[in-house]
Amino acid sequence: MSDPVVDARDVTYRHPDGTVAVDGVDLRIEPGTRVALLGANGAGKSTLLQLLGGLLDPSEGTVRWFGERDADVVRDRLSVLLQDADDYLFNPTVREDLAYGPRQLRLPANEVDERVATLAARFDLESLLDRPPFRLSGGEKRRAAFAAALSLDPEALLLDEPVSHLDAQNRRRILDALDELASEGVTTVVATPDPDLVPAVADRVCLLGPSGTVVADGTPREILTDRERLRAAGLRPPTLVRLFGDLDGVDGEDLPVSLSEADALLRRWRETE
Ligand SMILES: Nc1ncnc2c1ncn2[C@@H]1O[C@H](COP(=O)(O)OP(=O)(O)O)[C@@H](O)[C@H]1O
Ligand SMILES: [Mg+2]
Repeated sequence: MSDPVVDARDVTYRHPDGTVAVDGVDLRIEPGTRVALLGANGAGKSTLLQLLGGLLDPSEGTVRWFGERDADVVRDRLSVLLQDADDYLFNPTVREDLAYGPRQLRLPANEVDERVATLAARFDLESLLDRPPFRLSGGEKRRAAFAAALSLDPEALLLDEPVSHLDAQNRRRILDALDELASEGVTTVVATPDPDLVPAVADRVCLLGPSGTVVADGTPREILTDRERLRAAGLRPPTLVRLFGDLDGVDGEDLPVSLSEADALLRRWRETE
C-alpha cells in the first residue's frame, strides 16, 4: 500500500502568544481522496492546513508526508494555497508567476512555456499573462494564485477557503478545476466554514470543534445531517438539510445533502404523485 499523503499524529500548535489553535489532532489522508476541513471561524482550520502543508512546525506531535519527516523533500509533490492570493504572486507578471515554480524545478524552457500555456487556458488567464499581478481584480488574483499552486503539477493540493467571497463565475471555475484534479487522482484538502460547499468538494469531512480538535470524521452525509453536532461546532446545517429535514417523512438516507440528491428526491416525489 502506498504511504499516506499526510499523516499527522497527535499534533498540537501553540501560537507564540500561547493560544492553542490545534489541539491533539490525528489525521491521515490517503492518496486520491477529497477531504474537507469544516469548522467555524477561529476553529483552527488555517493553522491545521499549514501544519498539514509543512508550512508550520507542530509544537507537539509529528507530521509525515508520503512517509517522509522532512517537508522540504516533498515540496514539489504537495502544494498549499493559502487564503491571501498575494502570497503567491510576487513576480513582475502573471506569466512569470506561473513559470516560477517550474523554473525552480529546472524544467526545460519549452516545458515551462507549455505548463504556463496549459494553466492559463484552464484558468482563463491568457489575456492577463503580461499584466502585473497587482493590476488584477480579486477574482483574477485568486485564479492566478490557484494556477501558480498547480504549476508544480502536485500530487496533493491543500486549499484554504478557495471560493470565499468569489462571484458565481469564479467560484464555478475553481470548483471545476477541483473536479478535474480529483478525476486525475490528485488529493485535495479544502478548509471551509461553509457546510453548503462540502458536498461539492469532499468525500470525507473532518469537523473541527471550537477549540482546535477534530470532533467528527466521516462522509459528508454522516457529518452534514448531524444537526446537533454541527451546532455544537458553531455551524448551521447545510441549507438542503434544514429545508428537507423539516418536512415530514424525510430523514435518514432520504435527506439530501447535495443538489443532485435533492434533485433525485424531487423527481421521485413527482413520479409518485
Ligand atoms: N498569529 C496568531 N497568533 C495568535 N493566535 C492566532 C494567530 N493566528 C490565529 N490565531 C488563533 O488561533 C485560532 C485558530 O485560528 P485559525 O487557524 O486562523 O482558524 P480558522 O482558519 O478556522 O478561522 C484562533 O483562536 C485564532 O485567534
Ligand atoms: Mg482561516
